[in-house]
Amino acid sequence: MNIILLGPPGAGKGTQAQRLVERHGMRQLSTGDMLRAAVKAGTPTGLEAKAVMERGELVSDAIVSALIGDELDAMGADTGAIFDGYPRTAAQAESLDAILSARGRKLDHVVELEVDEEALVERITGRFTCATCGKGYHDTFERPKVDGVCDKCGGTEFKRRPDDNAETVRTRLAEYRAKTAPILPIYEARGIVAKVDGMADMDHVTAAIEGALRT
Ligand code: AP5
Ligand code: MG
Repeated sequence: MNIILLGPPGAGKGTQAQRLVERHGMRQLSTGDMLRAAVKAGTPTGLEAKAVMERGELVSDAIVSALIGDELDAMGADTGAIFDGYPRTAAQAESLDAILSARGRKLDHVVELEVDEEALVERITGRFTCATCGKGYHDTFERPKVDGVCDKCGGTEFKRRPDDNAETVRTRLAEYRAKTAPILPIYEARGIVAKVDGMADMDHVTAAIEGALRT
């Protein structure tokens, strides 16, 4: 199964993708994570993307579509893909169709996480992740069971994203409204969009997504 998790910054795409990976052995393909890895490694892609990401703007379509193609080629043909943060523009949506059909895959579901924008700044500014395994947490909504120790891997170092500040979040939201929300009708016309209430607590959101994937 190949699915897209669609929603604005802080909607819960990464949180829910990690859960689907654990439950179903699917693979999370997050262009944001791939770009952050490229920035960290100092690759040419990373050098080009760094400042754009820090401003909260979108990296070029060609770069992210190439990253997605490479990741799909590196994974087993039978492993399901969860697209997290991709596609984000009409051009990327078109590329994804071509990328999938060239690999004998098809898109099964697009899950739209519906959220109130006012809640997103709080979600994003409170977010942190385990520096070792990448598990996501939140200062208020999902703290580690033992303070300072990752539930999943026992790691004791955590990190925050440089673009997770109130000012950059506003640019990221504006980019979402202008360039990403308009791609929804492409998928609605195919009858594959499921709308899920992203304001519910995390377990309810997971259950709603699981229900949508069974239809
Ligand atoms: P990316 O990494 O994709 O960031 P984003 O889209 O802004 O989304 P986030 O990762 O901020 O939010 P999320 O929905 O994953 O929320 P999360 O689950 O963490 O992109 C970063 C940048 O890279 C972009 O700005 C752009 O520059 C570039 N880029 C990436 N892809 C690109 C592309 N395709 N094209 C061009 N440029 C691209 O949840 C947030 C917090 O809320 C967490 O702390 C979590 O614990 C908490 N939370 C989650 N769900 C709930 C809930 N139900 N209740 C309470 N709290 C919750
Ligand atoms: Mg994310």
